[in-house]
Amino acid sequence: MNFDLTEEQLMIRQAARDFAQNDCKPGVIERDTNATFPADLVKKMADLGFLGMMVDPEYGGGGMDALSYAIAIEEISKVDASCSVIMSVNNSLVNYGLNEFGTPEQKRKYLEPLAKGEKIGAFCLSEPEAGSDATSQRTTAVDKGDHYLLNGTKNWITNGGSASTYLVIAQTNPELGHRGINVLIVEKGMPGFEIAKKEDKLGIRASDTHTLLFTDVKVPKENRIGEDGFGFKFAMKTLAGGRIGIAAQALGIAAGAYELAADYAKQRKAFGKEIINHQAIAFKLADMATRIEAARLLVYKAARLKDAGKSYDQASAMAKVFASETAMWVTTEAVQVHGGYGFVKEYHVERLMRDAKITQIYEGTSEVQRIVISRGVLA
Ligand code: CAA
Repeated sequence: MNFDLTEEQLMIRQAARDFAQNDCKPGVIERDTNATFPADLVKKMADLGFLGMMVDPEYGGGGMDALSYAIAIEEISKVDASCSVIMSVNNSLVNYGLNEFGTPEQKRKYLEPLAKGEKIGAFCLSEPEAGSDATSQRTTAVDKGDHYLLNGTKNWITNGGSASTYLVIAQTNPELGHRGINVLIVEKGMPGFEIAKKEDKLGIRASDTHTLLFTDVKVPKENRIGEDGFGFKFAMKTLAGGRIGIAAQALGIAAGAYELAADYAKQRKAFGKEIINHQAIAFKLADMATRIEAARLLVYKAARLKDAGKSYDQASAMAKVFASETAMWVTTEAVQVHGGYGFVKEYHVERLMRDAKITQIYEGTSEVQRIVISRGVLA
């Protein structure tokens, strides 16, 4: 594997690092405390081209590779995982699907404003009784000739309130199992579409996560993506790429916590010397650095496979499960290195620990990743 980054990838990393440090860092604690959606930062991400990184330039995107995208997510997540999840859902779950499988008309109407960051997208799969078991969803899209009649409830939808364009996955022919599922483009404001409860979350508190209600929403046939029955495969293909984004997010959270812990350990003195000079702390930092490096190799490998046009389902699942478990472990240790200071907001690591937890849950729990990996390795 080639470990060198190109000039362009290095420039993207620097731009993301500058954005994270100069724009995201001020106010990150307040946004987390008050669960304030970072509208001004979303605008800045749009200006920087971070909301449509991999989209075809013909439709307003940056035409960049998945590795550049992972690197940008990693840098922003070191500081603000709420911003990076907004970016990740827009890029991986919404833009990717439209770019890859949308018609030219759908791309012009919906993808272009999303890629330019003029609008935000949301991906609506999870339901009150169907999270991991994606075929068991209850939302229905009944075929009415020139339109679908959409009814149901979607839960835990990232960008649920701030989005304008929603990709909704629903059952059309339940008797056909996964082959009876469709994906529809739903616009905010369509009659019968209601944005309901906003969740009060443990982490990524500045991103908005909502329940969505659909009651007899008429969705035109031309808003279906792909052939009739393509919805489940659409979701699986999209999530396989999305998992690279969340793995990169987990990597960034871990790396951000490590940097804070290492800096703190160089300054804090105990028993007559800086705590980094106590082996108990030095070995902890060594283990943190080692696991982060291993996570980075898996994340970059998955991205490189995607860029090479090779299969990456298993690699992205491996990257996500390992990086998210690394994030949880490293952030908990970073709090420990900080001692009492780690337990208060001012030092940032407690937020990173709370943010780390969601990376083990969304876009497929760690258990789902292990299903994907075990099917791959046992095949
Ligand atoms: N690419 C293409 N096709 C795929 C695929 C992929 N990556 N994965 C599966 N498929 C196809 C299979 O080939 C099969 O098709 P055929 O029958 O034609 O061969 C079909 O899909 C069904 O596959 P499975 O039998 O493997 O499906 P399953 O019901 O056993 O599900 C699962 C497997 C991996 C558990 C899947 O349900 C899954 O990934 N669940 C988790 C869903 C998830 O990630 N939810 C998160 C919600 S989104 C979110 O969190 C967003 C956010 O807000 C941040």
